[in-house]
Amino acid sequence: MRTQVAIVGSGPSGLLLGQLLAGIGVETIILERSSREHVVGRVRAGVLEQGTVELLEEAGVAARLHAEGLPHSGISLAFDGRLHRIDLAALTGGKHVTVYGQTEVTHDLMDKREAAGLVTVYEAANVALHDFDGAAPFVTYDDKDGVSHRIDCDFIAGCDGYHGVSRKSVPERALKTFERQYPFGWLGVLAEVPPADHELVYANHERGFALCSMRSTHRSRYYVQCPQDDRVEAWSDDRFWDELRRRLPERTAASVTTGPSFEKSIAPLRSFVAEPMRFGRLFLVGDAAHIVPPTGAKGLNLAASDVRYLFAGLREFYVGKSQAGIEAYSQKALARVWKAVRFSWWMTTMLHRFPDTGDFGQRIQEAELDYLVHSQAASTALAENYVGLPY
Ligand code: APR
Ligand code: PHB
Repeated sequence: MRTQVAIVGSGPSGLLLGQLLAGIGVETIILERSSREHVVGRVRAGVLEQGTVELLEEAGVAARLHAEGLPHSGISLAFDGRLHRIDLAALTGGKHVTVYGQTEVTHDLMDKREAAGLVTVYEAANVALHDFDGAAPFVTYDDKDGVSHRIDCDFIAGCDGYHGVSRKSVPERALKTFERQYPFGWLGVLAEVPPADHELVYANHERGFALCSMRSTHRSRYYVQCPQDDRVEAWSDDRFWDELRRRLPERTAASVTTGPSFEKSIAPLRSFVAEPMRFGRLFLVGDAAHIVPPTGAKGLNLAASDVRYLFAGLREFYVGKSQAGIEAYSQKALARVWKAVRFSWWMTTMLHRFPDTGDFGQRIQEAELDYLVHSQAASTALAENYVGLPY
């Protein structure tokens, strides 16, 4: 087989890149290790920057997002027993974010790809990347019947997430990695109940961080900080709802509607960046190159911004017949990545209870939060990062 761009991974990065390239007549094949059901069944984040929404519009997959997504023009920080609203729109000249689940984004992109008859190979095993440091790269894999295949291509896009094969195919000496593990995790719950507040609430509390989020006006997504080695089985729904409410201001806690959870999971928190993001004709995109803790809602948005830069570079190559965009990809993407890594680290540091900083750390956080909500300069810094920095 031959294609122009072989894409490894059918998460949001791979699917969005494939769709944008299809729009300019560039052929792609996506190789995905898991089944379609598994990919769409994953519950992930849910806040889209305006730039991400614009890119989904450009890819022709924003109709349902506009119909069902919830525009949010503010968030609240909860501490000291009260909610403090950050007016994102007023502080950023009218920008907002859109609450729409990553699961739905993935769904919309898959439907579009299938309707256009574009190829995705699910359950592709032993995907291997070859000769990307030369002019004729190729990818090999085994299909679900165990038959081996080879795809020759111009470029390989490694959109296969943190645990994927793409980053691991690069010789270790060519890669510099940066990592920070946080000493806690997030226990997340989805429930078919109306959200406690009409906007997101990020709570700093002595018992630990909590977040009230949502997927729609009738579906809520909540998180509480938990020990890293905690087990989901230790958390009955009742225990979760009690712990959540204890970490929220009284009035918000009273507005929490409880109900049976239909998804409950624990995720570790880490920051990770691999540099550079291009090795000859291989590009790393999204989670394959970087991970941020979810506190800033940046994971999916960073994946989309990588795709934007890579798409611009590939368009320059195929339409403008210039290599310049491809050569600039890593540097441009990383400049934006590091700013989001910093923002996500800062939000995480300010809002969580750290085991080693004790009451001193708690007071410092409270002082920072108090300053933040009373200083227009500090609130603006949060707001412009939260809605998304320019490209
Ligand atoms: N071969 C083929 N596919 C693979 C392989 C492999 N060896 N390894 C992983 N994959 C697939 C995974 O099954 C997954 O479907 O690559 C896909 C990667 O998708 P994501 O992990 O969603 O990564 P990305 O598309 O970059 O999206 C980033 O998703 O993980 C969240 O928080 C993250 O919101 C961010 C966004
Ligand atoms: C979510 O809705 O899952 C969500 C929202 C905001 C975050 C993280 C997760 O910062």
